[in-house]
Amino acid sequence: MASSVYIHIPFCSHICTYCAFTKFYYNKKMVTDYLNTLEKEIKERYQGEILKTLYIGGGTPSSLDISDLKELFKILKVFKFQDDYEFTIEVNPENLTFDKIKLFKENKVNRISMGVESTNINCLKYLGRCHDFSLVKDKIKLLKEFGFNNINVDLIYALKNQSLEDLKKDLDNLLSLDVQHISTYSLMIEDKTILKLKGEEEIDEDKDYLMYDLIRKTLKKHGYFHYEISNFAKEGYESKHNLVYWANSEYYGFGLASASFLGNTRTTNTNNFKKYLEGDYYSEIEKLDKNDILSYALILGFRLIKGINKKEFYNKYHVELDSLYNIKDLIKDKKLIDKGGNIYISYDKIYIENSILINFVGE
Ligand SMILES: C[S@@+](CC[C@H](N)C(=O)[O-])C[C@H]1O[C@@H](n2cnc3c(N)ncnc32)[C@H](O)[C@@H]1O
Ligand code: SF4
Repeated sequence: MASSVYIHIPFCSHICTYCAFTKFYYNKKMVTDYLNTLEKEIKERYQGEILKTLYIGGGTPSSLDISDLKELFKILKVFKFQDDYEFTIEVNPENLTFDKIKLFKENKVNRISMGVESTNINCLKYLGRCHDFSLVKDKIKLLKEFGFNNINVDLIYALKNQSLEDLKKDLDNLLSLDVQHISTYSLMIEDKTILKLKGEEEIDEDKDYLMYDLIRKTLKKHGYFHYEISNFAKEGYESKHNLVYWANSEYYGFGLASASFLGNTRTTNTNNFKKYLEGDYYSEIEKLDKNDILSYALILGFRLIKGINKKEFYNKYHVELDSLYNIKDLIKDKKLIDKGGNIYISYDKIYIENSILINFVGE
């Protein structure tokens, strides 16, 4: 039973230099066709489960105009929610308006995730963003006036020519917004992005580490609890939706390029717009056996700073966590810590987590 849904809205008002997500420039006709197909896909696949979380991501959902958004919310009426549901929508500062916020409020949205990315005008230009920090402050203020009290902001760091001082200023600015959740991402130069085409490269690892360390120490000092490699929240404001992914629990993904995990099957939707409109939704269907499921459980679960609870793991998978792969050796090497009923990655090894997680790929 899946009680979480992700919906992809692949439209943006502009294209950023670093972005490899599936997205198109906003186009009214494309949006109308897309929403019609999205409605069909949901009707065909959704089994009527009561939802704990709904996440509308992109692209930029706030790039849709008011009439598109009204159509989207009409489609979403099919979903029923638990009392303590979380309903997130991704926005970016330049196309978030008073009327759109009002519509979100009227349609049960209770969490907002805003792409802020940087507060430094040169960094924003490098990233191809179309806003400044003063616009961000205005929009966060407006969201709070409407009663939104669960807001995330995204930060990108590790940019060429960015100093630790610049990053410190970004963090101070984000802290001044007094939001409940902060996600931080080291800039990745992805294929087929403007930065890649320009021959840009990622910064060196030592500096990247210093930046990561500055972020986690600064945010901790200001009351944000570091709960996942890239995510920080005030107590009780962890992203319930993302926790579903990290717990290796089931979820639906609707829309272009979205992913689902249902029963023992992971599916990825096509990123081909034409095929999607023709109802040819899936591009990949992966049937998982027990070992695959365990491998996913470890790779996702160890992303959490508190790691994996041994008892819960046993109750869910009927196998002792420390009997899997080379977990016992990793504990001996102090890469993993076995304490208080949980096994987790040692604080000083979080930065090199990928080199630990690679141990759990396949058996
Ligand atoms: C789908 S995008 C977000 C929301 C919205 N479209 C916006 O840009 O404001 C999700 C987040 O992923 C992060 N991200 C995307 N591409 C990235 C990259 N190449 N390197 C690091 N972070 C990236 C950004 O922080 C971005 O806000
Ligand atoms: S980062 Fe966000 S706004 Fe920029 S192109 Fe990607 S999805 Fe669109």
